[in-house]
Amino acid sequence: MRTHYCGDLNQNHLDQDVVLVGWAHRRRDHGGVIFIDLRDREGRVQVVFDPDTAATFSTAESVRSEFVLQVKGRVRQRPEGTVNADLPTGQIEVLGKQLEVLNTSETPPFHLDDETVSEEHRLRYRYLDLRRPVMLDRIRLRAQVTRELRGFLDGNGFLDVETPILTRATPEGARDYLVPSRTHPGEFFALPQSPQLFKQLLMMSGLDRYYQIVRCFRDEDLRADRQPEFTQLDIETSFMDEDAIMDLTENMIRGLFDKVLGVQLDNPFPRMTWQECMRRFGSDRPDLRVPLELVDVGDLMVGVDFKVFAGPALDPNGRVAALCLPGGCKLTRKEIDDYTSFVAIYGARGLAYIKVNQRSAGRDGLQSPILKFLPDDVIENVMQRTGAADGDLVFFGADKASIVNEALGALRVRLGEDCGLLQGEWKPLWVIDFPMFEWDEGGQRWMSLHHPFTSPKEDHLPLLDTDPGGCHSRAYDMVLNGTELGGGSMRIYRPAVQRRVFELLGISDEEADDKFGFLLNALKYGCPPHGGLAFGLDRLVMLMTGAQSIREVMAFPKTQTASCPLTNAPSAVPDTQLRELNIRLRKTPEKTADS
Ligand code: AMO
Ligand code: AMP
Repeated sequence: MRTHYCGDLNQNHLDQDVVLVGWAHRRRDHGGVIFIDLRDREGRVQVVFDPDTAATFSTAESVRSEFVLQVKGRVRQRPEGTVNADLPTGQIEVLGKQLEVLNTSETPPFHLDDETVSEEHRLRYRYLDLRRPVMLDRIRLRAQVTRELRGFLDGNGFLDVETPILTRATPEGARDYLVPSRTHPGEFFALPQSPQLFKQLLMMSGLDRYYQIVRCFRDEDLRADRQPEFTQLDIETSFMDEDAIMDLTENMIRGLFDKVLGVQLDNPFPRMTWQECMRRFGSDRPDLRVPLELVDVGDLMVGVDFKVFAGPALDPNGRVAALCLPGGCKLTRKEIDDYTSFVAIYGARGLAYIKVNQRSAGRDGLQSPILKFLPDDVIENVMQRTGAADGDLVFFGADKASIVNEALGALRVRLGEDCGLLQGEWKPLWVIDFPMFEWDEGGQRWMSLHHPFTSPKEDHLPLLDTDPGGCHSRAYDMVLNGTELGGGSMRIYRPAVQRRVFELLGISDEEADDKFGFLLNALKYGCPPHGGLAFGLDRLVMLMTGAQSIREVMAFPKTQTASCPLTNAPSAVPDTQLRELNIRLRKTPEKTADS
């Protein structure tokens, strides 16, 4: 059918006869000459039809956007002045001699060059959307990424093993997608939130090194970097400790960036404890390209006559922190109000600030709604600690530590972007030394920071009984430019420790036996020390392509409300099917516009 891809043609093919197939991207009639941009997976080339070959010319006249064509012709140099430097094939064109319309097309719902199409519309016609070169490039890069990752892991003795999709709940902190069982009325499979338990069982089977590029399912609130089904590069190893696992996977990611993007990432990646991350950046996935840091000022505020600050300063769970923005005096009232609304999303009840017009002038050189509450020595200390200079602005957050961290952590990144402060292109980081548990105020109980199979640090085991909050885990997360790329841990491999952790999480022995009996049993029969991690493949490709959302690097993603405009999934099912499954709906839900 063809001799070349359209996008592959260049001056090396001058005077060659070629056969091309592809889609009519655009047709232009120019005073008796017809130009058709013919497009295929690899790019596009200009084909010229002149009236000398009358039959071909009249066929060319009938061509519309997205018709599927076969063209036979000869490659020639473009005439002087018509060279298109923006196009890889822009030096040449093909003089069309024969043209066959392999298929026609109705007028497409949008032109592929139109960049204003809504995402909903793009997803409804995803097959057309994917014809766009930018989308094809992303899909191609994704394929290259999985090829490189597989190559690395295959070369390092890892075995690719598939694990069940119809399974039991695997707790990773989201809701499960359930699938009713026809053969066991009233019972349900859960789709895996991750293959966590199966990969641990594979280590108990002696597989030693496992990986899988695997779909995971989580019914959670969606964001730009979250989808209900997404892909992990899932890894597990036996007899390797956390340092060895981090070294190996870091090498894998460094090699990947080098091969695919020609980018040299840090060697080694810096490592930072969770505590330091929270203190300096208010986040466990800090974007290190932003040179701003949170500075604690709580100790200075204990005695001030301003409850907003003194309250949290005295509260053991409170935090008062400052964030100095160089040159921030330039911010207008409106901009500061906007940032105040922005931090309110994270629960902050305000955003106090001090503008530093002229530091040497003391109080008179400052401008702030809270100045009147703060004595001279406190102000001076704040200035010193934050290193504020003339022209800077210091923001303050005061509340529960979790709120201050989230609010100022997010503000820090937002200011970095808004004010063009980003330094360096790629800033990877390992976050280590996570707490095992976090206290859930609402539920009044401990929750796993990672998942319940994460091992505590050996020397912290006694803390399980005395101070669960102070107990650290053997977990590690890889962060790149503020995105959590992957996370993992050394696992619990002794049944007693696993039971104790379940107990702390409020999972009774009976419940543990019911839900995880198979794991607790397996731990009894010679379980090797093991650990691993999982990367979010979609997030990795999103960062590597510079896309704004993981939906842009998935062929057929879901919308923000977890539906598919292309297939109209999810959808109602016939009563007969429900009856077979022994299911009766409480009431027929009305189909809403976005459900
Ligand atoms: P975790 O829950 O951290 O760990 O998931 C691993 C990585 O998967 C990606 N990810 C997602 N990507 C897109 N959409 C989502 N909804 C989504 N949720 C998570 C993230 C994350 O870092 N079993 C453990 C790993 C282990 O301990 O080995 C796990 O699933 O990039
Ligand atoms: P108010 O006395 O409530 O008018 O607040 C004075 C200043 O403190 C305003 O600039 C508020 O935005 C700010 N503010 C109020 N609550 C907080 C808080 N929890 N953290 C930081 N700043 C706050």
